[in-house]
Amino acid sequence: TRPVRIAPSLLAADFARLGEEARAVAAAGADWLHLDIMDGHFVPNISYGPVVVKALRRHCAIPFDVHLMIAPADPYLEAFAAAGADLISLHPEAGAHLHRSLQTIRALGKQSGVVLNPATPVSVVENVLDLCDLILVMSVNPGFGGQSFLGSQLGKIAALRRMIDAHVAAGGQPIALQVDGGITAETAPRCIAAGADVLVAGTAVFGAPDYAAAIAALRSPALR
Ligand code: DX5
Ligand code: ZN
Repeated sequence: TRPVRIAPSLLAADFARLGEEARAVAAAGADWLHLDIMDGHFVPNISYGPVVVKALRRHCAIPFDVHLMIAPADPYLEAFAAAGADLISLHPEAGAHLHRSLQTIRALGKQSGVVLNPATPVSVVENVLDLCDLILVMSVNPGFGGQSFLGSQLGKIAALRRMIDAHVAAGGQPIALQVDGGITAETAPRCIAAGADVLVAGTAVFGAPDYAAAIAALRSPALR
């Protein structure tokens, strides 16, 4: 079975102690730190921007996985790259030219990702696979933590797994398949079985008393 990486979403952390929280999940075994950027326009919530990402960089050495929920996204790509993002993912609905946005992220020397909302079809990424390091399937509508997992997205994960495997078999670069929203110890194994290899979890990690145990519980189904 493929290794499963866990990316805790800082959205569910104590915002008065962000540096400490980032350090704590890294020490607890997190593979990546998932950073949710919301503008109150593309999604109905506001989180934080590049200044906070940059400040966190001094506290935490694991890869920063920046999920942009902002429109337009293009004018801010350079700022997030400079702030210390390792991977920048965006929604196709955030701009008219997805291919160009992905090229820009790559030109900034960062890994690039495309995020699919629950209603967004997999066909959106079909013609940009060579510019993707990651495809993220939203298993809730973006904007808030703590929502219920949408089981309707499991078929999409499976379809993307087939698409990615065919791409790699044809000589293409590897592409991570990430799921975000409502991930718990109960929903994680369903996502992994459908083909996901990176799980984002906010509430399930930061809402737990023991971050290391919570991260291990999300990852462990793959070992069974
Ligand atoms: C939602 C964000 C998620 C969110 C997940 O818009 O993209 O990353 O933090 O939170 P949970 O894991 O609580 O559903
Ligand atoms: Zn997210």
